[in-house]
Amino acid sequence: MKIKFYITTPIYYVNDVAHIGHSYTTITADIIARWKRLNNFDVFFVTGTDEHGEKIVSAAKKKGQTPLALCDEMSEKFKKIWNLLNISYTNFIRTTEKRHFIAVEKIVQTLFDKGFIFKKKYEGLYCTGCERFYSKKDLDKTGCCFFHKTKPLLQFEENYFFKLSAFQNLILDRITDPYHKEHIEILPKERKNEIIGKLKIGLEDISLSRSIVKWGIPLPFDKEQTAYVWIDALINYVTGLGYPEDINKFQKYWPADIQLMAKDILWFHAVIWPAILIGVELSPPKRIYAHGFFTLNGNKMSKSLSNVISPQELIDKYGVDATRYIVSTIIPFDSDGDISWHELTLKYNVDLANNLGNMISRIIKMAAKYFNLKTPHKINNLDLELVKKISKLLKVSFIINMNNIQLHKAAQSLQNAITFINKQIEYDTPWKIAKTDTSKLAHHIFSYLQAIDVIALYLLPFMPISAKKIWCATGANGNIDEVAKKYFKDFIIPQDGFSISGSQLQNMENLFLRIV
Ligand code: MSP
Repeated sequence: MKIKFYITTPIYYVNDVAHIGHSYTTITADIIARWKRLNNFDVFFVTGTDEHGEKIVSAAKKKGQTPLALCDEMSEKFKKIWNLLNISYTNFIRTTEKRHFIAVEKIVQTLFDKGFIFKKKYEGLYCTGCERFYSKKDLDKTGCCFFHKTKPLLQFEENYFFKLSAFQNLILDRITDPYHKEHIEILPKERKNEIIGKLKIGLEDISLSRSIVKWGIPLPFDKEQTAYVWIDALINYVTGLGYPEDINKFQKYWPADIQLMAKDILWFHAVIWPAILIGVELSPPKRIYAHGFFTLNGNKMSKSLSNVISPQELIDKYGVDATRYIVSTIIPFDSDGDISWHELTLKYNVDLANNLGNMISRIIKMAAKYFNLKTPHKINNLDLELVKKISKLLKVSFIINMNNIQLHKAAQSLQNAITFINKQIEYDTPWKIAKTDTSKLAHHIFSYLQAIDVIALYLLPFMPISAKKIWCATGANGNIDEVAKKYFKDFIIPQDGFSISGSQLQNMENLFLRIV
């Protein structure tokens, strides 16, 4: 029996195309999803697009399109880029889909029936960028929103409100008590503490509907009002599992095992989302992880500053797999990080072209030169010493870091293992041994090939295509995914090695060419 694992990314607004920041969350989620599959979990992975609200209406207007035409065009673009990046999502959800309307109606109606929704006249400062109301104390000294640096507009409406205040203690208990049967783990710790601090101050009820925004999902009990875009958007996480129509599938995978997002939207996920779920008697997510923000050359990425890096540009420069690797490991997951093209290229050259690429090409070159591009004969079990050492080294550091979503550290342990192999080669000086002792040379080359193979297994979640190429280049035995699943269960190295004696190898000189 496989254990289920449900992972989500935020659903992205379709007012703009994906940039490196969106790719960061999505690639990370994909790497975790692939990692879990290799560890024999039954993974469900949902991503998608957030298509309602004022922001979308005004973007469509600017482009002279209807909102739906814009959503159709942009959601396709998101799908296309995720497919290019090899994102192995199980379900892509669009909030304009009928199945999502059904889920939102069901949840909002249930909240209404349970008395958590009431009508109220309201005046507030609305930031369209964030799609939320702010009170003056939440704004900077000049009265601007911290994220968008624009002044929210005063809006007056009679809306339906969600009794968020009723959930204060219910949420606090779930976040602070690790033994609560519905414990919500919020990571990283500092952000969890911020949430707890804010929760302790108290919760204000929030607007749940808009009367002036027609581009949304009408409330089932008052068709003149549409669901507030954030309430609408959060519900995607259950729609994506088939709620409410495919209740078996939903019950199989819910609650989410991990929901990823950046810190800008943690409040919605850590407080409003659990409140909605508790309100309709569903369990909240088990783990919510808010990562930091990418800045580019010290600036927030924004179209107006024309300093946005797109995933397509990255793919054009580095290729798909290297893009996945660099983007997911260039900054620590918990903190903000500044990046530049220079640093991205440096990471590519150091980790992939120099360390990994060189190791593979030099080993295969030696096998070509001395053993006719074939895996030499295994002499005795000492031939497996090196691969066992590498396996032991990685087993601890890589796995802990992957399970804690510290991808930059997991990648570092891989790089350390590669450096270890490179150093071993320098120490062994096989080019000297070639002149004197063929059987010792066979022992070394055989050992190196096995070490490459085990590295390929660990590279699989990060760089699925390259890992397979490497696996084939060393003539390793069997389907890499199947071998990896077996290996990650018991960490046993096959008796005859992965690449068995006599296997045909392939030259591998241009896997990651140096970029100048
Ligand atoms: N539509 C909402 C989310 C609703 S989820 C129920 C939204 N969309 S967004 O298009 O603005 O995407 C926000 C998410 O994109 C962030 O939480 C993060 O995952 C990712 N990022 C956007 N810019 C980013 C950076 N500069 N750096 C890192 N991640 C960034 O908010």
